[in-house]
Parts: sequence; structure tokens; C-alpha cells
Amino acid sequence: MRGNFGDNNNKNLRRATFGHFLYSFFHSTMASKPIREYDAKLLLAHWLPQAPPPCASYPAVSKDFKFPKPRVAQLAWSEDDVSDKYLVAPRWIDPTSTKLVGKPDMLIKRRGKAGLLALNKTWDGAEGVKSWIKERAGKPVKVEHTTGTLTTFIVEPFLPHPSNTEYYICINSGREGDAILFTHEGGVEVGDVDAKALRLELPVSVLSAGGSFPSRDTIKSTLLSAVPAGSKDALTDFILRLYAVYVHLHFTYLEINPLVCFEGGEIHFLDMAAKIDQTAESICGPMWAVARDLGLYEESFGAATNAAPKKAGVQTDRGPPMVFPAPFGRQLTTEEAYIQKLDASTGASLKLTVLNPKGRVWTMVAGGGASVVYSDAIAAHGFAGELANYGEYSGAPTEGQTYEYARTVIDLITRGTPHPDGKILIIGGGIANFTNVAATFKGIIRALKEAKSGLITHNVKIYVRRGGPNYQEGLRAMRLLGESLGVPIKVYGPDTHITDIVPIALGIDLSKKAAPTTAPGTGTTTPAGAAVDVHDSTAAPTVGTIHPSGSRTQPDDQIVHFDTSSSASGSRPAYRPFDDNTRSFVYGLQPRAIQGMLDFDYSCGRKAPSVAAMIYPFGGHHIQKFYWGTKETLLPVYTSVDEAVAKHPDTDVVVNFASSRSVYSSTLDILKFSSQIRSIAIIAEGVPERHARELLWRAKEAGVLVIGPATVGGIKPGCFRIGNSGGMMDNIIASKLYRAGSVGYVSKSGGMSNELNNILSLVTNGTYEGIAIGGDRYPGSTFIDHLLRYEADPQCKMLVLLGEVGGVEEYRVIEAVKQGRITKPIVAWAIGTCAKMFDTEVQFGHAGSMADSEMETADAKNKAMRAAGFVVPETFEELPRALKETYENLVKKGVIVPKNEMDPPVIPMDYKWAQELGLIRKPAAFISTISDERGQELLYAGMRISDVFKEDIGLGGVTMVQPFPGMFSSFSSDLFLISISAMNTIVASRAGKDLISSLASGLLTIGSRFGGALDEAASMFSQARDTGLTPREFVDNSRKANKLISGIGHKIKSVNNPDLRVELVKEYVRKNFPSHSLLDYALAVEKVTTAKKDTLILNVDGCIAVCFVDLLRDSGAFTPDEADEYIKIGTLNGLFVLGRSIGFIGHHLDQKRLRAPLYRHPADDIFINMADVSQPRVLGRMQ
Ligand SMILES: CC(C)(COP(=O)(O)OP(=O)(O)OC[C@H]1O[C@@H](n2cnc3c(N)ncnc32)[C@H](O)[C@@H]1OP(=O)(O)O)[C@@H](O)C(=O)NCCC(=O)NCCS
Repeated sequence: MRGNFGDNNNKNLRRATFGHFLYSFFHSTMASKPIREYDAKLLLAHWLPQAPPPCASYPAVSKDFKFPKPRVAQLAWSEDDVSDKYLVAPRWIDPTSTKLVGKPDMLIKRRGKAGLLALNKTWDGAEGVKSWIKERAGKPVKVEHTTGTLTTFIVEPFLPHPSNTEYYICINSGREGDAILFTHEGGVEVGDVDAKALRLELPVSVLSAGGSFPSRDTIKSTLLSAVPAGSKDALTDFILRLYAVYVHLHFTYLEINPLVCFEGGEIHFLDMAAKIDQTAESICGPMWAVARDLGLYEESFGAATNAAPKKAGVQTDRGPPMVFPAPFGRQLTTEEAYIQKLDASTGASLKLTVLNPKGRVWTMVAGGGASVVYSDAIAAHGFAGELANYGEYSGAPTEGQTYEYARTVIDLITRGTPHPDGKILIIGGGIANFTNVAATFKGIIRALKEAKSGLITHNVKIYVRRGGPNYQEGLRAMRLLGESLGVPIKVYGPDTHITDIVPIALGIDLSKKAAPTTAPGTGTTTPAGAAVDVHDSTAAPTVGTIHPSGSRTQPDDQIVHFDTSSSASGSRPAYRPFDDNTRSFVYGLQPRAIQGMLDFDYSCGRKAPSVAAMIYPFGGHHIQKFYWGTKETLLPVYTSVDEAVAKHPDTDVVVNFASSRSVYSSTLDILKFSSQIRSIAIIAEGVPERHARELLWRAKEAGVLVIGPATVGGIKPGCFRIGNSGGMMDNIIASKLYRAGSVGYVSKSGGMSNELNNILSLVTNGTYEGIAIGGDRYPGSTFIDHLLRYEADPQCKMLVLLGEVGGVEEYRVIEAVKQGRITKPIVAWAIGTCAKMFDTEVQFGHAGSMADSEMETADAKNKAMRAAGFVVPETFEELPRALKETYENLVKKGVIVPKNEMDPPVIPMDYKWAQELGLIRKPAAFISTISDERGQELLYAGMRISDVFKEDIGLGGVTMVQPFPGMFSSFSSDLFLISISAMNTIVASRAGKDLISSLASGLLTIGSRFGGALDEAASMFSQARDTGLTPREFVDNSRKANKLISGIGHKIKSVNNPDLRVELVKEYVRKNFPSHSLLDYALAVEKVTTAKKDTLILNVDGCIAVCFVDLLRDSGAFTPDEADEYIKIGTLNGLFVLGRSIGFIGHHLDQKRLRAPLYRHPADDIFINMADVSQPRVLGRMQ
């Protein structure tokens, strides 16, 4: 007879050391995260009976199947409060007679061995579970190598059962699908389940519309052959229900051992280990939460009696959100937790792991791949023990986010007693594709300035290396900082090899080492064999060209129209999805990326832009203007894929910028047009794994090439650029990406791809094609897919593979080389060699970059690739030399014949950038001396809005609206801004009109686009709340309807940089209003939207709107009908217009006082489009 033993024994869970295992899981940015046993049991308790069948062919469950009825209670303490008040008996027990099991629930394995199991005990009594827990709660305990404090326990009934009723079941997920492992010999002695368990493979296809799920008989014959006949049906039913829950709730791992099934079919699940996909939170959050709502369970279920008291206010979901616990003994430091929180609310990536707080070498590196390369270099130089942290920031974080990130890291560096040898901070990074280096550096510089004295005290030396958009500005600012901060800062640009600053920073004299390993230092180096004669471009003279007549070519702001109806997408061979005719749709509103693509096209001498149109489901159908060289062109924006596809039959690529939450549905939509759309790039990072896997399977079925997710895309020099790949034009030119070279590469990392473009341009004749497959766990296409294409493409002569620790995809390439399917020379390197030198396993920036076994380590991969005949250097630093040698051999053999260089056409610098760099100036058309909205805080005649309130000065008209003093002040404060409507007032005023006419001119422009969305916000929020939608349901429903929520979102302000006006209104309302339930509701909505993006805050319009509804409804002055009536008839807008009028009057008087002359709009700011409408052109085609 056995009881439940509290020990899962799965092999996967036993790899590495215990502490390592937990640490790596916790620190993983992987979607897959472990949850507590208690929560896993609640998920099953709630969802087993009701999870929908995952597909149409799913076998039915017998009517007489009895669902297990688990009883479970949680006892949880915080580390600093271990008082007895939490030691409460579960509801469902008799404290003196019910036999119980008690065990810690803190992701600890093999609790039995560690003596952390109270078995077969009553609650009360000297030996009871209560005393057992009391003895341990809040106390440190060592389990294998890890010491941690016990704070969370689970209590369940003890279940006596014969050992032959114990089974083992485990469901896990992989790239191709899920697998169910089952053995009839479960229990603590289960042994090597990988070897002995029976397996039922469930490829992704079985859940598809046309797929066929294994029948009940197949389940029985495959998994249950050794199970007694009397238990087979019940176990089949259980497995079917379990798998339905697994799919519905986005589990990635679920193990039950033992699973007990008594003769007669009564089932109990005893010990459980589970992981769920955290990136599926936006889909499953409410389903996870509802299962954790203890109020839903019958009294007899008897979950925890010490459940956390319900928090006041409106909850986002029905039930508390899922908790992803820290691994035992490895609590997140406050700083790590803070960065994790920041990371969760942005599409950008911010990661921090403190490896050794006393370490001397700190890093702040941009890029998932680059950060690993730096750690590799530090470790390779023998400084792994001194490496204090691993971290990265990437995906274009804002200046504010980078500041928060830098502040946190610098704070850690400047703590404690200074080290006698001082400290080193490496601010590294590759050549960014799209992150604005100047903006992110501004954030870092702000943090460095604030920490000046700490940096000096700790004798910190700083080394910077970076390239990419605006790097010149960023590096210059860093250099200037170095001169003023009193802290030594050495600054290097893209002409220094990415990791060359590591030996410099560590004080290593490379001259004593082997021959130099870095790439030539400047872009002027010409690769061996490359022809040197550079001749003039044959392109048309560019702006500024001087003619013999003495005149110059001037910018010509005509709109260029392209007839692309004849460009044939079907003429390309399968191995060449992109050429110089390729046309694409960009999904999402990404004007910057599109302009980059068009500039690239122009520099390549393409005949027509590579972007045919944009697809953006929000808002209406419209057009947007882009530069084509010095001229302009128009691109249509469609709201649906159908329309875009129908209008542009020549387009066969989609660059999908949808967020990780919506990219699944938009890609499914796109795949419907697979007869036309042949390639899709998915940019978003953190796509739920189940979705990513389904997408890649569907794409494969349809023969569509998917690049990504979590990628910048790729580049085909001279032909086509996916989104932001290749960075800004200066980098495109420096890396010669405007014309094809001979080297095809595949990299996991987007940032490192750009670094490769640079290296290849220096040591070979350049990139032929480069693809970044993306860092998530399930990339749509992998190394082998692209390398086989390059192998087949006669124009590609040499291959490069830049792999990474984690996964086994490099072995598929090795196989192909061994089989002779790849014969072209291949240079390769797997990054992440430093992993072996850390005491703990570290999950690097990419979700897929962690070794699950020895063969997945970077070292093993490098060794295997070398053995298979790849050219694999000894270190990453030697990669350029390996590339150079391989290239020169091919030139020598005549395989590569270098071509003459051509100068690409000059593309003028964008006005905004030139202005940022201080290269140009332009007189302002308007002057205002009364308000300034550009900075962190609004200014009124030079006074900050917060001071206006502190001093209680108020803005004109404040006293007019007594019921809303705070609110109205904030409200009217918004109204002095130079909005479009204010502009009309100013123009009228400068035309000599009187106050009334100028005021009227501004007022007449106020509408839902200009002047706030108060009415709409009030109506959307109240309707949602009144119809009983949870905040999350409201957000989800609006999203499904492609409707943005009025009153949500700000351009600059965010969770970490709140809008002071909103703060003031909230504070006032909370203090003075009798009730503010709609404000609370709106703030819960804000929680959901800011989890998507930190700028999706409740804005000042939204805040005022909901507060006004609260006041009308709850002040007692109006009946509910009256309140609704007042809202309906536009009272809010009345209040708004009143406030705005004050602003307009202010502007009118200001202009008069300044004697502002008549306003004339600059002629060069007006496009005159007089082209013949019968011409084939963009506008003509749009209906
Ligand atoms: C993928 C990426 C372009 C998406 O951009 P984004 O700004 O997060 O997403 P969007 O602006 O499209 O939309 C954000 C969400 O806010 C929602 N939203 C915007 N305004 C809203 C409003 N007023 N009310 C409610 N919701 C609103 C949108 O509906 C959208 O919802 P969804 O995510 O559920 O679809 C961006 O996250 C990114 O570039 N990430 C980096 C990716 C990366 O690093 N890849 C690897 C490169 S090597």
C-alpha cells in the first residue's frame, strides 16, 4: 500500500544540478514557466470537466466518467511574516481524524529524499501536519546544492492505494507537436521514463480542421496496453480530458506521478509538475485566473482557508492572476524583478540576471545575440568568475525604458564596498538594425550622470562600442560625457570589431597572444581579390549635383507613380524567394521601416518600391506618402488582407509587424492567400508557442516560407530588404548592401546579422543573402531551410551559419553536409560558449538559447561542425579571419570573380534626422509664449503645471466650475496646447480677425479627432462596465472589433512616466468624490492595456470622462436616468469646449500681443498632384 509521495521523477527535470535546474527555469525568458503544484491542481479541478475538445475529430468522453475531485489547500507565508495566523486548517478536514499529506510547494523536486514530506498525519497533534509545517515555515533548508526558505506548503488528503493502481503520465511539447508518455508502473520508483514509457505522438496536424485525432482504441492500444481492462476506459477518458486542458490552457509540460486509478475507474492525481506558456497570458490569463478563484469551488472542495483576501477595487479578471514562482532558493532580486516587470509591458526586450553581485565586470549590452557574444568573450579571456551580470536590451526600447534599465544596473555596480581594483562597465552592442542608438544612449547617459559620485567611488571604467541608427550622435554624446563626468569612458564605433573592447577593458595585451583576430579596422579596407576601380554611378544626377550651366539639381517634389502590373512574382526559382522585382505588403503601421525599405530599394537601383501597400486593420482606408529618392510616392493602406491581395496581384511577400498577441490571427489570414503570398516574415517576439508551432506547420503545408518569429527578417543585397534589416542607410552603404556579394548566411540573431553584414563587407565581397531565423523556440524556418536554398542558388558561393547554444538545428545542417546535400564551403560558429563557465545555467536573451542537453551546448555544436568539415574558428573573434581565408580560396579557385564596385545613388538625409544632428535649421512658422507641451511636464508661461496647482493659482476659468476644481484645472490645462484647432485660432488671429472670429475658427475644428475623445471614452467605458464585461473582456472585445478604446493611450507618457495631469485628477477624485467606481474600472482596463504596451495608459481625456460619469451617477444630485441623459446630450463636450475656449482666447491674445504677421504656409510643404488620372498609378487604382 502506498501513499502520495511528493516526488516527480521525470528525466528532463533531473538534468543538471538541482539548483541549476530551478535557476534556469526561473530565469528563462522562455515562454514556458513552471507553476506551483497547487495551481496546477486548481487548473485541472476547474477545467477538466469543461475544457472544450481541441478539434472536431476529438473522441467523446463516456457519460459515466467520474471526474476526479481533488481536495487541496495552500498555506503561504511571506518571508518576513511567519506568524501563526496563516496556519489555518483546511475547510474540508476533521483536524483530529482526516489523514493528510503536507509538503512544500516551491518547485522542489525529490521532496521525500530531502525529508520534506509529512505523510499520513492528522492536522492536530504533536506529530500532526500543523506542527510539521509550523516547524519549517520561514526556516532555511538545504536541498541538494540549494538553500532556500520554506514559505509555501500544500496540504492534501492522504490516499491509501495499492501500488498496482499507480500510473505515470506526462505530456510535453516539441516543434512538431505534443507527446503523451504513459507507463503502468508509476510512483516514486518510476525510473527512466524516457526509456520505458509508451508514447503517443500528437503532431500539430491532428488538431487541425482536417486532422484526425487518435481514436479511443488507438489511445488504449498505444498507451494502455498493460493496464487492467477495468481501468482502461476511465484512463482513456481521463487522458482525453487532460489533453483538452493541456491544449486549452497552453500547458507546455504536465507530469502526474503517481496517477492513481482504482478498479472501477475512480481517478486521483497525486503529485504534479507543470509548466505553462507565459506568453499565452493574453489568451489564457482569464482562464488561469478563474480557476484560482476559490469562491467558485464548493465548500466541500475545500481549497485554502487562508486564501489571500480579495483586493479592493476592480479586478482585471474573474479570479487572481496566475503566479509564476521563483525557483526554490533563487528568489528574484528586487532589481531582476523590476526589469522583468518593465520587460513584460513592452514589445522591446529588457533582461537582467545578476550572476555575481561582487563581480568586477558588468555589462549593459544591446541585443540578444550580441549580449551572448560579449559574455563569451569575457569568459574566453578568463574573467567568467568576475562577470557580475548577464543582460540585454533590444527591440528599440524607448529612452525612458533604457534609462530605467541602466539606472538599475548602475545602482548594482555602485553598491557595497568599492573593489580595490575598481570595476569595469562594458556598454556594448552590435550594429543595430532599428534601435535608435542616440535615444537609448540618452537614457544611459542620464543614469550615468545621476550615479556620478558612486561611479567615481567605485572607480568604474566604462567601455562603449555600438553602431546602428544614429550611432554617431550617441557615441558623440558618450564621448562628451566622458569629458565631463570624471569617469573614464572609452568610446568605439562600428569600425572596431564588436568584442574588441573586451580585451581592452580587461587590460589584456593581445599582442602577446596569437595573431590578431579581429576584422580590419575600417571600412576602407578592400577585400583580397575585390576589384578596386570604382566608377561613377550611371544613375540620374542626384540633388545638389552641379551642371555645366552652373545650376544645381533641385529636389523635385513630384509624386512618382509606378506601374508594377507586369512584374512577375511567379518567375523566381523556388530557392530564390526574393529578387529585385519582389513586392511586399507591410502589416502594421510602420512608416519608418517602410521608408527604410524604400531607401534601400532606391539605393539598389530598383525600378519600383519593394512595398506595394500597408495593411492596418484599425482606422480607415487611406494613403501615406513616402520618399522615393528625392521624390515622393504614395502607398495605400488597406484594412484587410483580402483587399490588399486583390489589388496587388504582383505582391508575394508580407512583412508582418503585428504584435505577439495578434500575429497568429493575422498570419492565419495571410496564409489563406498562399497561392499568391509565398513568404511571410514575423517580427514580433514572444508569440505563444502553440501558435508559433501551428503557424509553421500550416505554412509548411501551404509551401509558404516563414521567417521568424522574433526576427528582424533578412536582407538580399541589391534586391530586397525585410523591414528594418540592415539598419539605416549609412550602414547599408558602409556594408555595401546595395549590391550583391557572394556569401549567404543564416543567423539566429537579428543584431548579429547586421554585424555579419559589416564583417562580410570587410573581408569578402559581401553578403549575397542573409536571414535571421529568430530567437524564439519555434522559428518558422531554420538554418537548414535557408542553407539548402543557398546551396541550390548558383549565385551564392559561400555559406555562413551563426548558431547559438540551445536547440539541435545545427545538427540538421551537419547531417546535410555529411549526406552531400550541402557541398559549398561553410563557415560556422555557435555563440554561447561561456555557458559552461558559469556556476549557474543562464537563459540568454533568446527564448531558444538554453541547452537542454550536452549536445545543445555551443561547444558541442562547434566541435560537431568542425568534425563535419565546416570551417569553425577557435573563437568568435577569429571568425572574420576564417571568413577571409575561405573567401580568398574561392577567389583563387575562380569560383568567385569579384565585380567592379558601383557607387549607389545618394539619398538625402531625412529632415528630422538632419535637424537632430544639428546640420540644418529652419525658421519656425508659429510662435507661442503661453504654453509648452514638449517636455516631461507642461509649462504655462514658463511655470510647471505641478507648481500651478501647488500654488493654487489655477488657470483662467478654474473658478467657473466649482464642482470640479482639480479636474477642471487639469482639464483646461490641456487646452492651451497648440493643437490643430488652436492653430486655426492662431491663423485667423494672424489674418487680422477679431477675438470672436478667431475663437470660432478654432472651435469649429473641434471634433472627435481634435479636441479629445471625452464623449466616446465616457460611453465606451460605461457601456462596458454596465454590460458586466470584465476589464479584460472589454479590451479583448474591442480588439476583436478592431476598435481602439477612446481615452487609452499616450504618445510619450507611460506607466513609468505618468501624465501628471491624470495623477492630479485621480488624486482629487479619490479624495473628494463620494464614489469612483468607473474610474476604478478604467484603471483596471489600463492594467490590461499597459500589459500590452506601457504607453497604453488611461489618458487625461479618458480619466476626466470616467470621473465625470462617476460624479454624475454617484453624487446623489442626479437620478440615474438624468445622469445618463446628461452624458448623452454632450455635457462632457460642453465642459471640454468651455476649457478649450480659454486656451483659444489665450492663443489669440498671445498672437495679438506678439504682433504676429499674416501666416503664409510654405510652398514646399504643399504637394500638387496634377497627374493625368488615366495614368496607371497608385491613386488611380484605389477605389
Ligand atoms: C512587433 C511590434 C512591431 C509590435 O508593435 P506594438 O507597438 O507592440 O504593437 P501595436 O502597436 O501593433 O499594437 C499594440 C496593441 O495595443 C493595442 N492598442 C493600441 N491602442 C489602443 C487603445 N487605444 N485601446 C486599446 N488597445 C490599444 C492594439 O490593439 C494592439 O493590441 P494587440 O497587441 O492585442 O494586437 C513591436 O512590439 C516590436 O517591434 N517589437 C520588437 C520585436 C523584436 O525585437 N523582434 C526581434 C528583432 S531581432
